[in-house]
Amino acid sequence: MLNSAVEYINKCTNNFKPEIGIILGSGLGELADEYCGQALSYSEIPGFEASTVSGHKGRLVFAEINNKKVVMMQGRFHFYEGHSIQKVVFPIKVMKKLGVKTIIVTNAAGGVNADFKPSDLMIITDHINFMGVNPLIGLNDDTMGERFPDMSEVYTPEYVSLVQKAGEDLGIELQKGVYMALTGPSYETPAEVRMARTIGADAVGMSTVPEAIVASWAGMKVIGLSCICNSAAGVSTVGLSHADVIKAADDAKVKFKSLVKEVIKRI
Ligand code: HPA
Repeated sequence: MLNSAVEYINKCTNNFKPEIGIILGSGLGELADEYCGQALSYSEIPGFEASTVSGHKGRLVFAEINNKKVVMMQGRFHFYEGHSIQKVVFPIKVMKKLGVKTIIVTNAAGGVNADFKPSDLMIITDHINFMGVNPLIGLNDDTMGERFPDMSEVYTPEYVSLVQKAGEDLGIELQKGVYMALTGPSYETPAEVRMARTIGADAVGMSTVPEAIVASWAGMKVIGLSCICNSAAGVSTVGLSHADVIKAADDAKVKFKSLVKEVIKRI
């Protein structure tokens, strides 16, 4: 299936060879509208599934941004949609085979760290996999990565510094921290958020970690960016809604887009 997807994409894009892959999270997909060179809908690509979440379009977009060839996922597959974890990470393996060297994974997240405000952007420095599943379970493809891959530096430290510097130069304030992934789709309880804080998380969300594990396993450099869309449950007295999450992502999208463009320039 992997080879069929890669062959199909290569045929449709005339062997466009992207070096950067970007996964655009909830409400952050606009970058792909701005730079759409060519788009393939997920439903036409072998092995891809249709995206079921509102705020996620469901297409692979190929474009040149700041003279770099990029492929963008406008919408991702979440475990909570009922996809197998293998389906969730399938596009990452496809990107690797297309020649992608660096993956920028983005998401909407809840702020666990009390210093974070809605619409803040956070550079992910590390993660906690609390999904209860690992995308590398199953037969290992030794041509892509090792059976027992080291996860000491999933989020390439040199790129954490690069993103931080890009933020400083653009005057965009950036937070830094640990992202913890749970399956969702229910948001966390206040007790779960207290646990997340106690074990070292700064933000919680329902994505990113499976993709980052596979990208790191396959030898790609990884940059993780969270848009803090709300204070996680119990951190503030306000209840959570998907509409508020989308609204906060919307408020952050201008700075999000300029940051990503600047980072692409500097990679
Ligand atoms: N929790 C989990 N995922 C999220 C949140 C949250 O508070 N906000 C946006 N995505």
